[in-house]
Amino acid sequence: MYKKLFIPGPTHVRDEILQAQAVPMIGHRAPEYSDLQLEVTPKLQKLLYTQQRVYLYACSSTGVMEGSVRQAATKPILNTVCGAFSKRWHEITLQNGLPCDKVEVEMGQAITPELVDDALSRGDYGAITVVMNETSTGVMNPVQEIAALVHEKYPDVLLLVDAVSCMAGVKIEFDAWGLDVCLAGVQKCFALPPGLTVCAVSDRARERARQVPYPGHYFAYAQMDKRYDKGQTPATPAISLIQALNRQMDDILAEGLENRWQRHKEMAAVVQDWARRYFALYSDERYLSPTVTNIKNTRGISVANLNTELGKRGAMISNGYGDLKEKCFRIAHMGDLTLDDMHWLLEQINDILGL
Ligand SMILES: Cc1ncc(COP(=O)(O)O)c(C=O)c1O
Repeated sequence: MYKKLFIPGPTHVRDEILQAQAVPMIGHRAPEYSDLQLEVTPKLQKLLYTQQRVYLYACSSTGVMEGSVRQAATKPILNTVCGAFSKRWHEITLQNGLPCDKVEVEMGQAITPELVDDALSRGDYGAITVVMNETSTGVMNPVQEIAALVHEKYPDVLLLVDAVSCMAGVKIEFDAWGLDVCLAGVQKCFALPPGLTVCAVSDRARERARQVPYPGHYFAYAQMDKRYDKGQTPATPAISLIQALNRQMDDILAEGLENRWQRHKEMAAVVQDWARRYFALYSDERYLSPTVTNIKNTRGISVANLNTELGKRGAMISNGYGDLKEKCFRIAHMGDLTLDDMHWLLEQINDILGL
């Protein structure tokens, strides 16, 4: 049976978007492809409030996380860690042999400007990594405030931001905040099938990459730049997904960006209120994510059984991540889901659990 996805990626994909992929294939060196890329890129720039370059990579987010640290590594990198995905970025940095340190908070807590200030003051760093929305805990880190602190006190430190589970769901002002890299796979708030990553890169980050002796190849901005103005990528792009992205960006802009951010906040509020009433919230109340809520299993229910029952009714939620399995469960409210969807889901859960 078809299940509507209330998991933090991949998210529910509307039929119109699935169908937007089902168009005849075009050659990636043909003018039709260049037209497509040149059409979709300004829409992405609008989404991110940026005049800087936005690249499209035919891979999931992890690949671009790797490429971004490699290309920032003129000096040691500071990885901020507050859950599974920010930890992954630290591991990626280590496994590429790049000098780095981590500053870590407990799961459920946020990375604050004070913490970043303290950590940056202890070393001579070239870049910092921050996962804006830690999908494993449901925390949204205050990236705008962190960026302001970094610009004020550490102006040469690049800001690398993983916005995987919040780009296209919350406002990210790439230029005004002064970000250097902001990346996200499209299977979350963009509500597309997986396999494509959107990545905005500042001129400053591109310049820094030119000073790195071994920036890698596939993700290298210098490679991407060779054909950027022509509307092409150096390697074969995910053409069908970009067709769907182009259609989805029209729909996102037609909804209105402010409306889209507001819808995500409203869906989050409904789920958070429900969680407070029947369970408890896992994460620090001051930093709750507008796109995914991590709920403490205070009633000791079987999350696996709940999901089996939900499956019979055509829905799926997520268990807790890693060690939080069965101790927590996560409900995503991202992408093209609506307030009605969230009310429907919570009614089903109440009915199943007899709440
Ligand atoms: C915040 C965050 N970063 C990175 C990733 C890794 O993405 P992928 O597995 O698509 O490469 C995820 C996946 O869920 C994520 O939520």
